[in-house]
Amino acid sequence: MAKQEREPHSGRRVALFPLPFQGHLSPMLQLAALLRSRGFAVTVLHTGFNAPDPARHRELAFVPIHETLPEEATSPDAGIVAQLIALNAACEAPFQDALASLLPDVACVVVDGQWYAALGAAALVGVPALALRTDSAATFRSMLAYPRLRDAGYIPIQGKNDERLDEPVPELEPLRVRDLIRVDGCEADALCGFITRVADAMRASASGVVVNTFDAIEASVLGKIETELSQPAFAVGPLHKLSPMAAAEHNFLHSPDRGCLAWLDAHPPRSVLYVSLGSVACIDRGVFDEMAWALAGSGAPFLWVIRPGSVRGGEPPLPFGLDMSRGKIVPWAPQRDVLAHPATGGFWTHCGWNSTLESVCEGVPMLAQPCFADQTVNARYVTHQWGVGLELGEVFDRARVAEAVRRLMVGEECAAMRESARRLKIQAKQCVSATVAMDNLVKYICSL
Ligand code: UDX
Repeated sequence: MAKQEREPHSGRRVALFPLPFQGHLSPMLQLAALLRSRGFAVTVLHTGFNAPDPARHRELAFVPIHETLPEEATSPDAGIVAQLIALNAACEAPFQDALASLLPDVACVVVDGQWYAALGAAALVGVPALALRTDSAATFRSMLAYPRLRDAGYIPIQGKNDERLDEPVPELEPLRVRDLIRVDGCEADALCGFITRVADAMRASASGVVVNTFDAIEASVLGKIETELSQPAFAVGPLHKLSPMAAAEHNFLHSPDRGCLAWLDAHPPRSVLYVSLGSVACIDRGVFDEMAWALAGSGAPFLWVIRPGSVRGGEPPLPFGLDMSRGKIVPWAPQRDVLAHPATGGFWTHCGWNSTLESVCEGVPMLAQPCFADQTVNARYVTHQWGVGLELGEVFDRARVAEAVRRLMVGEECAAMRESARRLKIQAKQCVSATVAMDNLVKYICSL
């Protein structure tokens, strides 16, 4: 970054507070690198749990908040909503102390949008706070609408037999009731309570929202968020493309098996299906077996990430007799490089927002298997708004899934999705070369 671009803000410090999960840490650190490149001094306040590695980010300062966490906050067995509520409760006071220790040298703090308690704590310390949404604008907008949806009887959803599942949600098109945020195993009231706290904290304590998205895919939703919150919304994504962070600086909680890139080199263009359900989702043994049989039966070469701990009940062996000659399995892949590799022709994904954006930016069509939370929202946009994917649906059997893989990888539907994906990739590239959203965010921070 040229010296003259840094000078206007030098001396101003921005604090950041990421949520300690992979899909949240990465975009926050990408934003940190971007703000640093614009001349801000940047301090990352962080939990000891899943702490980022300061050695990878020499230009940023790191300050641990010294939290004491109950087991519920760190155990995936507690369920993600209980974990988030416990993390918020346990980190509120230590975060407030850590932020106060930076005073008076801090212009504003950017906290992950799920840190509702931190938004309130920042207000108490008198530091203006922005929320970074690491999910889509559509997801965030659906969260803001939750109280109204509850009053109108759309939520809580009454399980798989709810008669309204296929009804469109009036103010949230193209979402249907079945696409609203859901977390299996979490009481509807607990989920609603969590979302309400997030939305209430935004309204009460935030000075604006920063979203890892870009105008070409979500401009109209962003406008509605601004109107609803009466706060500015900045679409600063796709952060993984815009951030000046070098490859070696990326913080992964698992180390990627880079050998799979050489395996991809040996395959023809667009022939390989990449399969990964992200960093948090877990599946049952039955689903795992059907996935394995479907992959083997589809005829497509595949690169499959089986993350340790991602199959409930322990590491399963592959089903007996399965032909794995066309497949490669790794515990963690260098996903962005895999999606950018010419041999990758499709992505079977849980539709986490980072994975969705990464696929969009590389023009790779998706097979959507949303597991929980915002993933149903993202899957709906992938399949019905942008036309770059197929939905797997809820009935999960090997023959139907193998057929879906074939539709994704070859034939007329595949060609149409690849064309839509190619167009979206071009739009994403155009956003990366424009700096307007980031310029506006920088100006806004300087005005706080
Ligand atoms: C979680 C929620 O599940 C998701 O819905 C929300 O939008 C963000 O937080 P996660 O499971 O982490 O998401 O998925 P995602 O958002 O897609 O992030 C996963 C990240 O891990 C991506 O950046 C992806 O590139 C990376 N990854 C994943 C790898 O680098 N290698 C892998 O093998 C798998």
